[in-house]
Amino acid sequence: IVDAVRLRGGLGHAAPGPLEGPLIVSAVPTKPFEGQKPGTSGLRKKTKVFQQEHYLENFVQSLFDSLPPEELLGSTIVVSGDGRYHNAHAIHTICQLAAANGVGRVWIGVGGLLSTPAASAVIREREGGVAFGGIILSASHNPGGPDEDFGIKYNVRNGGPAPESVTNAIHERTTTISEYKSCLNLPRVDLSQPARYEFERREAAPFVVEVVDNTEDYLALLKQAFDFPKIAALLRRGDMSLVFDAMSGVAGPYAHAIFVREFGVDTSALLNCVPSETFDGGHPDPNLEYAATLVARMGLTKHGTPSPDEVDAPVFGAAADGDADRNMILGRGCFVTPSDSLAILVAHAHTIPWFQREGGLKSVARSMPTSGAVDRVAEQLGLPLFETPTGWKFFGNLMDAHLLGKEKLSPLICGEESFGTGSSHVREKDGLWAVLAWLSVLAHHNKKTPEGALIGVHEIVREHWQRYGRNYYTRYDYEQVDAADAARMVAHLLEYAKRFQEEGYGPESPQRLTDMMALSVVDEFSYTDPIDGSVASKQGIRFLFDDGSRIVFRLSGTGSVGATIRIYIEKYQRPDDSDALEMEVAVALEPLVELALAISKVREFTGRDRPTVIT
Ligand code: G6P
Ligand code: ZN
Repeated sequence: IVDAVRLRGGLGHAAPGPLEGPLIVSAVPTKPFEGQKPGTSGLRKKTKVFQQEHYLENFVQSLFDSLPPEELLGSTIVVSGDGRYHNAHAIHTICQLAAANGVGRVWIGVGGLLSTPAASAVIREREGGVAFGGIILSASHNPGGPDEDFGIKYNVRNGGPAPESVTNAIHERTTTISEYKSCLNLPRVDLSQPARYEFERREAAPFVVEVVDNTEDYLALLKQAFDFPKIAALLRRGDMSLVFDAMSGVAGPYAHAIFVREFGVDTSALLNCVPSETFDGGHPDPNLEYAATLVARMGLTKHGTPSPDEVDAPVFGAAADGDADRNMILGRGCFVTPSDSLAILVAHAHTIPWFQREGGLKSVARSMPTSGAVDRVAEQLGLPLFETPTGWKFFGNLMDAHLLGKEKLSPLICGEESFGTGSSHVREKDGLWAVLAWLSVLAHHNKKTPEGALIGVHEIVREHWQRYGRNYYTRYDYEQVDAADAARMVAHLLEYAKRFQEEGYGPESPQRLTDMMALSVVDEFSYTDPIDGSVASKQGIRFLFDDGSRIVFRLSGTGSVGATIRIYIEKYQRPDDSDALEMEVAVALEPLVELALAISKVREFTGRDRPTVIT
């Protein structure tokens, strides 16, 4: 750590440059901006929207105004991001407001970088967990750059996303704000290495900025969770090979720290592991479409089927998104759906030391649109399973149930179809956790296999299907649809649900539907939190069939322009017919997909022939 720098002197200099005199709090007049309502994970907009004068300031002031003043005063908050364009500028602005609003200390990762799970770890673990909360600057898996997306979200003391009571209060406040407080004379600090800066304030204790190592707290936590020597031994095998793609996001520094420095893997195994403001022009979303280079290298086509290059592919491949909370798991010529990945990790929880030490896995949770693959594992293990709305924040209460006066449900493993997997070690989903969990599973299966006979990802997945059956799964996304068109489609589906509930069939071709398979429920998903009783309604429309198949329709809560329609399609295949377990996904799901398109009339409502992305 560079020695504490104390800057003082005369009066009134604006940043950058050394500060002369104490910080001065300015009250800056402003007017509300429309649409500052945080979505599934914070406020996400085009960067240009955030660059408007006062835009970010309004939101951050509204955030500070929504927190209990006595707790905010003198508190420590974490401020960092995924390194996308506008990150450093936003960090400086937030520090100016933090200083003016009485925050005591700000922790910033070197380079302004912290992955979302690492930020959660810093809030929970650093100095024994003294941080009051954290501001994470990221639009996650959305592209970055002057014409792309930027985002901000607030995490609370437990390291997880702020609950809706807080985000609603913030939004409320943004609609009436008329002034924000900022220390405009706070100089920009050097974020390039760990350091401590102290700035005098007139009526408060000094304002402290600490630039902290971005991997140390998080790495220490992962070392508690996993058996590092065991994974390192697996990676040293001559027949083992790995490739990790950070998609030019913030996962890069963590990949270097873990794979190269801890496990001794060669840097040639790392793809796109230098963070870039624009993600090198890419779309940092780890799926078959956007992680094209990795997918090809793993011997896969973009449909997730094996390509002719399969033979030369590495044994294990993985990618993370812009802020490193999402993950995609691949084997040689094998794509593991996020829903299967969740189920397989739950089935193997005993191979992860963290769970053993904590007395074993206590419960499991998945978001509603995530496939039911994990349900079958939970049932067999006798674990309670929770089905929550989309959004990681809904898992937080389950993880902290015992702190909220309920029975202990943690440690638990949670997952979402949207490439999110994690556990109660932090309060965010965690891309690198998922990768290390998979490496633990591989290490476990290969404890005794001789060199040359390595059991790979595909074998593990196949064995899982043979035991539990397979949930064929696909998701169709229609991005940037006109919001009114999307709303009309939803209204049509709700009408369908109503008719089905009243009369036993929907308005369109009931015969066709019931001919194909028995439809048992059509409803709009609503969730009552088992811990605090809060209700989240309008969480997607479900068509549930007798055989466990499902079609789900939902509007995304994370887009930044127009509406995104998601259609989730799932078909369960029992384990007794082993040929039927090895079908191509598109073939296995074709009839259900057709049905989904017909019921929803998505083509008619949106004028779109085909989805933007299929995952
Ligand atoms: C983010 C959230 C996830 C959520 C995903 C998709 O990654 O953290 O919890 O599942 O977005 O959300 P959406 O509303 O776009 O379907
Ligand atoms: Zn993300």
